[in-house]
Amino acid sequence: MSYQVTLQPGGKSFAVASDETVLSAAIEAGYNLPYGCRNGACGACKGKVVSGEVDYGEHQKNALTEAEKQAGQALFCCARPLSDLVIECREVTALNGIKPRIMPARVEKMEKRSEDVMALYLKLPSNERMQFMAGQYIEFILKDGKRRAFSLANAPHDDALLELHLRLVPGGQFTQYVFTEMHEKAILRFEGPFGSFYLREDTDRPLIFVAGGTGFAPIKGIVEHAIHHKDTRPIHIYWGARTLQDLYMNELPLQWQQAHPNIKYTPVLSEPLPEDNWQGRTGLVHVAVMEDFETLNDYQVYCCGAPQMVDIAHLAFQAHGLPPEEFFSDSFTYANPLPKVAG
Ligand code: FES
Repeated sequence: MSYQVTLQPGGKSFAVASDETVLSAAIEAGYNLPYGCRNGACGACKGKVVSGEVDYGEHQKNALTEAEKQAGQALFCCARPLSDLVIECREVTALNGIKPRIMPARVEKMEKRSEDVMALYLKLPSNERMQFMAGQYIEFILKDGKRRAFSLANAPHDDALLELHLRLVPGGQFTQYVFTEMHEKAILRFEGPFGSFYLREDTDRPLIFVAGGTGFAPIKGIVEHAIHHKDTRPIHIYWGARTLQDLYMNELPLQWQQAHPNIKYTPVLSEPLPEDNWQGRTGLVHVAVMEDFETLNDYQVYCCGAPQMVDIAHLAFQAHGLPPEEFFSDSFTYANPLPKVAG
């Protein structure tokens, strides 16, 4: 059985089978609704059900609260139709034409950047190319069909190799395999690109990027894209980590800052070690942002890291004047079956 979904604003419509999520059907039909984890954990796909009924599906409580359900909201990555629907959801126009595909890739290079972070460089078959926006992510498809999601750390203009930053998750089957068994030349299968964490280029607002740990990965891709396209907006990059070795590419944003007068980089350590001899900022990365800006009213913020960090930053930044529509985020969601374990 299938139902009709009408998108507002715009009035476009597409069919969705009763056992399919609204988001999958929209992607299939070529409509780009905003989303992040596709797993009911990040809240990025939240929108309003204007009319009709949905089965809300399984999701994390903090991604969609009871009060939000009462107010007519749903997570379209989990919601299945129980009738024809009219939904309200901003379409992400910049992604037009980019559809995820399943592809093989060869591990071309593995670089251990710290004790628990590996940079992985993947090569596609010579006749293949993946179209993507800087900041999007891919999902590895494991032998048992499970998936693991990782953000792309390179920008599309520099796509000879796809770059990912993987943090070793204790007990995490896939990252354990990567750190202990996988060798260069291994073949992996993935689907991508996914996600709507990419640079909005239709505004003059100065940009603030806030990364936690390997949340630096998509931000690296986006900043490299902005540099390549000679984006002259002021760019403030904050990278928060526990110790100095966790800033596993610290030299790169320092180079960006030196080479580009519009870029400012602020690393922030929460638990620097004595041997780090750290003279820089300490504490929580989102607090450092709020200390530096009297109000965030005129800014646009991109935030990527652990869900807790992203959630706290989101609330704190709004209380600090950031308009809700100017906050874009991507969080590592550890929920099964699709943990986004890095970047
Ligand atoms: S909750 Fe739906 S995309 Fe993350």
